[in-house]
Amino acid sequence: MKAEVKAHKDHIISTIDDRIYGSFVEHMGRAVYEGIYEPGHPTANEQGFRQDVIDVINELNVPLVRYPGGNFVSGYNWEDGIGPKEDRPKRLDLAWRSVETNQVGLHEFMEWSRQANTEVNMAINLGTRGIDAARNLLEYCNHPGGTYWSDLRKENGDEKPFAIKTWCLGNEMDGPWQTGAKTAEEYGRLAQETGKVMKLVDESIELVLCGSSSSKMPTFGEWEYTVLEHAYDYVDFLSLHLYWENFENDLPNYLAKSVEMDHFIKDVVAICDAVKAKKGSDKKINLSFDEWNVWYHSKDADAKREPWDIAPPLLEDIYNFEDALLVGCGLITLLNNSDRVKIACLAQLVNVIAPIMTVKDGEVWKQPTFYPFMQASNYGRGKVLNLQSESPTYDSKEYKAVPYLESAAVLNDEKNEIVVFAVNRSEKDNMAFNTTLEGFNNIEVIEATELAGYDPKMTTQEQHDAMEIKPNESISVEGSRAEIDLKPLSWNMIRLSFK
Ligand code: AHR
Repeated sequence: MKAEVKAHKDHIISTIDDRIYGSFVEHMGRAVYEGIYEPGHPTANEQGFRQDVIDVINELNVPLVRYPGGNFVSGYNWEDGIGPKEDRPKRLDLAWRSVETNQVGLHEFMEWSRQANTEVNMAINLGTRGIDAARNLLEYCNHPGGTYWSDLRKENGDEKPFAIKTWCLGNEMDGPWQTGAKTAEEYGRLAQETGKVMKLVDESIELVLCGSSSSKMPTFGEWEYTVLEHAYDYVDFLSLHLYWENFENDLPNYLAKSVEMDHFIKDVVAICDAVKAKKGSDKKINLSFDEWNVWYHSKDADAKREPWDIAPPLLEDIYNFEDALLVGCGLITLLNNSDRVKIACLAQLVNVIAPIMTVKDGEVWKQPTFYPFMQASNYGRGKVLNLQSESPTYDSKEYKAVPYLESAAVLNDEKNEIVVFAVNRSEKDNMAFNTTLEGFNNIEVIEATELAGYDPKMTTQEQHDAMEIKPNESISVEGSRAEIDLKPLSWNMIRLSFK
């Protein structure tokens, strides 16, 4: 099979906002407790954070982490997580029917984020709470001092403001499962007023308005339009959430599911722009794809669980090679839509539907999905080139004319480097893949790598180093053209230099 992409130096989709490589740590399951925080672990530092986990997170180069939820945030009192740890209340977390000890709260998480070289995307509770709790939290976090809440932050150990830039106005407020779920009218008005007040406290922040919890929600579309009509002037982003499943064990159809992500993005962009037109506004609303991943492997086990444990193993999906390929296709889709998707958060980061897993008192290990994310996040920085792509296609159960090739190309001007990411969706066929890069001279290969040759169901649960990125020696370049063989079912990264 043959496939080809062409790019031109002057045809740029956008400059990538690095926040597209964000992730997510929710107070649920073993994400925080036994994930990032485990006092007593051999690698735990003074604050109780696992250094081995921080080291692996640093390999992912995650610029932004959404926190503290997720569904959890809709019942959370942020004040429970400040002050002396021994005085903090234990609370019922209704979202995950667990017990929250509040041993990690705001200051601890901000400290962890500094150690993990990342920024925080803070979600506020618009389920059980509203404007007052939000403005107090923002004053506590971002105001320099001289007021009740900012001085309390100082008393609690942080003299300097946290300077949190990105804030989510609640989480999945359309979902019937959400504590304090709302209609679009109710949420739109509340978000409008909360956003207005938050920007009065700190006008430098950016706000994310909740879109639908998925494009399959019965109110999808209508919800986006209504909430934007209310809150348009006060918000900067609209959120999208998407989780993939392969219950039917249909690989061609499963790997095509990133097409759905692409359609979802384009549909939501259309709605944002329709509201813009109706309002006659100059302002463009961009997208925050602040939850995306594969999530289904753990659902049966979670359904059988008894409630009210502390840090129970929840949503501990064990990912396989086919999941890594789909995550790779998702990353490529986000890149090719980076003109409007400015934030994206792989949900989540540690233990809960995560690329990184931990064992209590034991090791940290990488799931197959770690590898495409790691390469895209480290090398996919700069500008996305507009690719003209030609690939054979197939029809799957749900999707027509799915290209076997999924690819994106990123230009890094500072390093004189072009990085091509490509997935070959074919189960059987090698792909002779040609890349023509017009306007770039003296192209040379820096490296070509692949994650390939594994059984689609293979995991790294038993043998943690069973999967690895390997060099692909088949690459050759001539003039402005590179040729390489992409193995069946493969994630690939090609780094080229130019003069
Ligand atoms: O990421 C797990 C959960 O998925 C989040 O808490 C919620 O927002 C979504 O439904």
